[in-house]
Amino acid sequence: MNLPDTESYVLSADVVQNEIGDRFATYHRLLGGLFFLDRYGQELLEAYRTPKPVRTALLSGEARTREEELTQQLIARHILVPVRVRQSRSEPASLEKKVNIIQLILANACNFGCTYCFEGVQGKKMSAEDEYNKVDTSRLIAREGIKVNIEDSIYASKERFDHQYDSKNRSMKPADGIAYVESALAVARSEGVREVMLQFFGGEPLLNWRTIHAVLERFGNGESEGVKINYSTVTNGSLITEEVAEAFAKYQVAVCVSFDSPTSPSRPLKNGDDSTPVVMQGLRTLQRFENRVAINAALTSATWDDFNNSIVDLAVDVGAQEIGVVVDFDPTFYSNYGAQRIVDRLWKVVEYGRTRGVVLTGYWHQIFQVMLGFD
Ligand SMILES: C[S@@+](CC[C@H](N)C(=O)[O-])C[C@H]1O[C@@H](n2cnc3c(N)ncnc32)[C@H](O)[C@@H]1O
Ligand code: SF4
Repeated sequence: MNLPDTESYVLSADVVQNEIGDRFATYHRLLGGLFFLDRYGQELLEAYRTPKPVRTALLSGEARTREEELTQQLIARHILVPVRVRQSRSEPASLEKKVNIIQLILANACNFGCTYCFEGVQGKKMSAEDEYNKVDTSRLIAREGIKVNIEDSIYASKERFDHQYDSKNRSMKPADGIAYVESALAVARSEGVREVMLQFFGGEPLLNWRTIHAVLERFGNGESEGVKINYSTVTNGSLITEEVAEAFAKYQVAVCVSFDSPTSPSRPLKNGDDSTPVVMQGLRTLQRFENRVAINAALTSATWDDFNNSIVDLAVDVGAQEIGVVVDFDPTFYSNYGAQRIVDRLWKVVEYGRTRGVVLTGYWHQIFQVMLGFD
């Protein structure tokens, strides 16, 4: 039973731990927040496998000892939770499902032939059967490296490829784009959402400028719909005309241009030619119209040898302050190169970016921040 000035705490059922050397990497399954515990911290955590009282004054007051400080930290990170909370959560909390992001896949086609592209839309005859079999082979090669079961992924199903390669689904018509956004906004509004991100994606989205333009003109900043709309796009950068750059500036579309390295041959045009000159021209046009630009760089087996500081220099040159690094979606990458080498390569460029005012981000970013003590 609790004494009046104490409350019982227990280890949360959502805690995940991995022993690394003499430390324990620890995080909350739902909230993240990776950190390391030494032996002493681990013993303290273990003591909460059964409920233990904590002085309530400790929760807001100054910690007097290391044990108290650690306890405060573990509670703040929801690693230790009040027994009454854990008991009242016999059913898993239902996920809050709200429409905050709308993504339009404007074209299931592309004018590039990127060697590593996971979409399979790059310049070649398309067959759903071929693509499905290719995914299977890559799983076999990577069997050792696969930690999660992707067997059921919608991205790897025959149905998915059938839809993608159906000629009826190659290009989204303007009327369809507008209808999709209208219905997505109606759902968002009905859930009380007041601000959404609308992203133009592909294949290569700018192959379908007609529909992008129609959507921008129809919805503008979303005022008439009662929902603020922020726009973004991810593009290969080869189809940026003055008209496109002007409209993107007018509607404040954040433009993410994919570019891995000035020396990488992995993003050729469909006819095999180097795409760099035409992408640079696109980046310069965006710069002239003062668009908000970020670079999207892929760190994959194909770009490994060329992924270096030169991408930071390029970002500075074209006025981009952020580089989003997408680490390969193909599991063989991790088994071939190993976590340590991948982290080292990425980290060198992160550090160089800092010296030049360019931030490198990606889904790995938050984990790095925590490891480096910027939590
Ligand atoms: C699939 S493309 C679609 C948009 C547009 N065509 C472009 O290239 O920006 C989106 C992003 O995915 C990245 N990408 C493609 N295949 C990848 C892979 N296997 N691993 C990591 N990133 C990949 C591309 O480099 C690009 O930045
Ligand atoms: S430009 Fe984009 S969609 Fe086209 S092949 Fe390259 S990564 Fe894939």
